Amino acid sequence: MNHQSAGHGAPPETLPANWYHGDEHFARERRAIFWTNWMLIGRIEQLARPGDYVSDDIAGWPVFVIRSKDGDLRGFHNVCRHRAGPLVGDGPGRCNMLRCRYHGWVYDTEGTLHKAPGLDLGSDIDPAEFSLYPVRVDTWNGLVFVCLDPDARDLASWLGDIVDIAKDFPAIPDMAFTGEFAHEGRANWKAYSDNSCEGYHVGFVHKGLGATVSDDKIDIRPYENGRFVGFDVTYEASAVDPTRHGRGFWIYKFPCLLLHFGEYSFNCERVKPLGARGVHLSRWFWCDPMKADALGISPDDAIASSRLVMEEDLGICEAVQRNLEAGIYQTGRMAPSEEIGTIYFQRLVREALDAAP
Ligand code: FES
Ligand SMILES: [Fe+2]
Repeated sequence: MNHQSAGHGAPPETLPANWYHGDEHFARERRAIFWTNWMLIGRIEQLARPGDYVSDDIAGWPVFVIRSKDGDLRGFHNVCRHRAGPLVGDGPGRCNMLRCRYHGWVYDTEGTLHKAPGLDLGSDIDPAEFSLYPVRVDTWNGLVFVCLDPDARDLASWLGDIVDIAKDFPAIPDMAFTGEFAHEGRANWKAYSDNSCEGYHVGFVHKGLGATVSDDKIDIRPYENGRFVGFDVTYEASAVDPTRHGRGFWIYKFPCLLLHFGEYSFNCERVKPLGARGVHLSRWFWCDPMKADALGISPDDAIASSRLVMEEDLGICEAVQRNLEAGIYQTGRMAPSEEIGTIYFQRLVREALDAAP
């Protein structure tokens, strides 16, 4: 691991336990963190044709992105301007017009109101005042992001150094999408993030991975330009898990996105809060089939290995969550030499909450 002097003085204190289960605290995070950051919502190939859309729930805000008739990507809150019905269902889909599922008001793919049965557009209501609520959309490396905050920085500056790091690895649009999986767990999103930002637990929680990644081959450090934790990894040749090969770069991007760059593959994981005490995890995989084949690696094996690691992580996080809620533990102390990433992640949580109005 990254060895640095702990110096003198008390080691850093963890976030308080009640930040991991209180509804009031979660309401603060929703505004301070999930409103103001870019969130991954889809893959560019899901939005290839006009009318293609992806929808999702971002910390309690239902939103969708659609390829409009004019060819642009447009994002909206999935909320009708009549009585707040939904325009589209969950997940990916396709439509010519956006017809509300409650009483059938119709909007075009640019979000403009076209029909409101029982009302005359023009004399009863002015359609210009009843367009769908917009959401910002941008793309990077084949990934589609949304941001709810009109004043937030743009996507490229939000990503910071990640844009350059990605250039050392195969680009997503040049690879094949090979699969996905998702899990839900009973843990606060930060319990999972705390865990994702350190390698301290690897030898205990992941017996297979622990044997693959040796201590002196991983460099973990915070990156201020982009506010993420980077893990520069060189995998040992190992019979335990041959899908982990050569050099990799893992990223925990604040607040809730994991990116795993590899020599022949890429995968990313979204960490979505389900209120204060639940989390939804979804991971997408890409692979360069020629390179994987040359290495004798099956993309399915890489996904299975990743799934096992996620299940092990979620299992320990659910156990931690029970203990955080039980009420005996209030705060703890962290080891800077081993938990530099988690210390940084928790600092970013505190800063975001302090900066919020
Ligand atoms: S809520 Fe959309 S048509 Fe009524
Ligand atoms: Fe882990």
